[in-house]
Amino acid sequence: VTSNGVVRPSDLFAPSRRNSKGWDLTDPLTLAQLPHHQPFFTDSAILNAAHDVVIRNPADLNDVVGTVKSASTEDVQAAIARAVAAQAGWTNTPVTERAYCLNRLADLYEANAPQLFALLTREAGKTLADAVAELREAVDFCRYYAVQAMDYSHAPARGVVTCISPWNFPLAIFTGQIVAALVTGNTVLAKPAEQTPLIAQRAIELMHQAGVPHDAVQLLCGDGAVVGAAMTVDVRINGVVFTGSSVTAKLIQNNMAKHLAPDAMFIAETGGLNAMIVDSSALPEQVVRDVMASAFQSAGQRCSALRILYVQEDVAHDVIEMIAGAMDLLAVGNPWQLETDVGPVIDLDAQRELNEYLKNCDIIKTVPVPNAGYFVAPTMARVQGIEAMGKEMFGPILHVATFKAHELEQVVQTINNKGYGLTLGVHSRIESRVDAVCAQAHIGNIYVNRNQIGAIVGSQPFGGHGLSGTGPKAGGALYLSKFVRGTSNAAVM
Ligand code: NAD
Ligand code: ALA
Repeated sequence: VTSNGVVRPSDLFAPSRRNSKGWDLTDPLTLAQLPHHQPFFTDSAILNAAHDVVIRNPADLNDVVGTVKSASTEDVQAAIARAVAAQAGWTNTPVTERAYCLNRLADLYEANAPQLFALLTREAGKTLADAVAELREAVDFCRYYAVQAMDYSHAPARGVVTCISPWNFPLAIFTGQIVAALVTGNTVLAKPAEQTPLIAQRAIELMHQAGVPHDAVQLLCGDGAVVGAAMTVDVRINGVVFTGSSVTAKLIQNNMAKHLAPDAMFIAETGGLNAMIVDSSALPEQVVRDVMASAFQSAGQRCSALRILYVQEDVAHDVIEMIAGAMDLLAVGNPWQLETDVGPVIDLDAQRELNEYLKNCDIIKTVPVPNAGYFVAPTMARVQGIEAMGKEMFGPILHVATFKAHELEQVVQTINNKGYGLTLGVHSRIESRVDAVCAQAHIGNIYVNRNQIGAIVGSQPFGGHGLSGTGPKAGGALYLSKFVRGTSNAAVM
């Protein structure tokens, strides 16, 4: 259970650097320096070309961000062989040196912030505010795991670890998985999502610049079902770290069970059907602020995002009216503009799926969006309860259900019964009621009287239960323990 007012690891480790970077994006000079209009063409020497994929800005399809070469399954085989050969050298590198690489990477991310912001915005459709937060999270993972790794200095690495990441945090999650594996002495094969290979490629270049040997971390871009799958079925792979949908996690788990050694490690961080419960004692203005952030920030494309608001019947009318009013003020548009609250969804498939879904929704409120680009209207829709919802819809759609005061326990039970367990918001000023909900809910991250997105490395370890993931939580003290063998001799746990 978390609250506001936390301090980030990056604030602790490098306060003066952070203050001197001048990332004040409200300053027009800083904004003008961002390389938004320079195409990020890449002629990656990392792999041989199978074919080129053109990456376009999801908010502006005329904006070609760059091209990327897809790996073949032969490339995957060759990369595994190189990773195996590099293993002894990397694992025998002192942990202090490996940690130093992570700290240097954090410095390089900060030094290259403008280009990384531009890539996050143009390739992934992130608003500038989200891009800044994402870069900070990536930096935090580096600095936090660099410190945590000292507890594992005598623990043997697992070997070769495959890291497979999603497009919605193409820098932070991509980086977090990889640096955790590297700092504990593993060599890494990294597979970014199909939609966001360019930012991944830039991150890998910076990792190499930070001192990680080229064969200790290799990038393999391409289709998940082909390239990703090939990275999970070779017995030379000793572990897989995956973040993405629950469906893909199960596919990978099946592949691993068939092809990998029984002691191969598996971490999965997956989706959620996240609820917020609001009782009649909650402060309506605070509820509305936190609902807006939780449901619509990042166009709802966060695993942590609010999908269903349960509001007590007595206050439901007022709360819904206020949310509808706040939705009228949402600025939906080009994420490059500072004033934009909600950018595009990631691609045409996502836009089509969400718009198809909306056709069958009982809509309370929707707002206009630009015609060009992959925008989906932020929408509030009525629903009976979480039991009436299907799979996670990954976009700016907020469902609302009501409950009577005596039904609270039943509501929490119904949420538990759905099987997911990633985030839950609780808004109430009655402490005993909050305690009861927290005790009953099978949820990884519970947020009380605040929004339910944006967990902070080091102080708010993030991860779910059940269909939402295996743990250990990312950005928490236990995370690195999975990347080494037999931790009994190793760590202060
Ligand atoms: P996805 O499952 O479609 O893809 C994730 C990654 O898996 C991609 O790199 C993809 O190429 C790869 N992949 C696909 N099929 C594969 C296969 N058969 N074998 C190996 N790899 C394969 O997910 P997505 O659409 O990229 O991301 C959105 C999902 O991620 C949502 O469900 C969201 O909730 C989840 N997510 C979870 C967390 C968390 O921490 N719990 C964080 C972010 C996103
Ligand atoms: N860690 C991300 C969040 O909390 C997914 O929103």
